[in-house]
Amino acid sequence: MDDYDRREFLSLSLPGFLGVLAALPALCTVATRANAAEGRLAADGAMHWEAFLEAVAAEAKKQHLDAWNQDQYVRDIAGIASRLHLEDPVLLKGMEQIKTRLKKGKVDFEYLEKRVDFGLCLVQFDVGEIIAPHDHPGMTGMILCASGEIETSNYDLVEKPDTPPPAGHELLRRVETKVLKKNDISTLTAKARNIHTLHARKVTQLVDIFTPPYNDERSEKSRWYELSPEPKPGDPALIEARIKE
Ligand SMILES: [Fe+2]
Repeated sequence: MDDYDRREFLSLSLPGFLGVLAALPALCTVATRANAAEGRLAADGAMHWEAFLEAVAAEAKKQHLDAWNQDQYVRDIAGIASRLHLEDPVLLKGMEQIKTRLKKGKVDFEYLEKRVDFGLCLVQFDVGEIIAPHDHPGMTGMILCASGEIETSNYDLVEKPDTPPPAGHELLRRVETKVLKKNDISTLTAKARNIHTLHARKVTQLVDIFTPPYNDERSEKSRWYELSPEPKPGDPALIEARIKE
């Protein structure tokens, strides 16, 4: 956007005036964004979609700092997400669009925002649908339940187990299991809770934010697991998992 300083506004030539006219849409966009950044809904303090995105973007930039603290980041993103107005028109429209896909028998994904620093998508499950255990290489994740009810379990990879598992297997430690209902949040970082599985108890819609976002390399590195039906003897949280091809 061109910059117009005070002096130029005070001594407008015709070309200058036309320039201001040309810049008006951009000025309006900036004003709209600025309003959105302050734009909490009066009633309950919830955030408009634009304000939400800008707040997430501001936090996501911090990943480029040397001292990026992922635990703090997912807490901050969760704090922002907990203020998102779930009836925002942008969100409702996205939800409505994926609703029509429910009958295809698999989990639906719809990206609402893809940026260099983060990706935001809606995920929809039919009753009983499962996403098998998988990891998120080098990524953080924040899942906000927008509607429905879904069980999530998160696992840490046991880096150097006393007894190494057979080839093609890893040892996982279950570190969290919870049932998410509307407004509940689950998070993971590159180091903690990075592997998860989800099982929908009702038709469920989630808002997912991944930072950094998926790209070809991260998708390629991502692993999917098949959990052993029984935990290791003596420790119900320890589970052997076969790495799927
Ligand atoms: Fe995931």
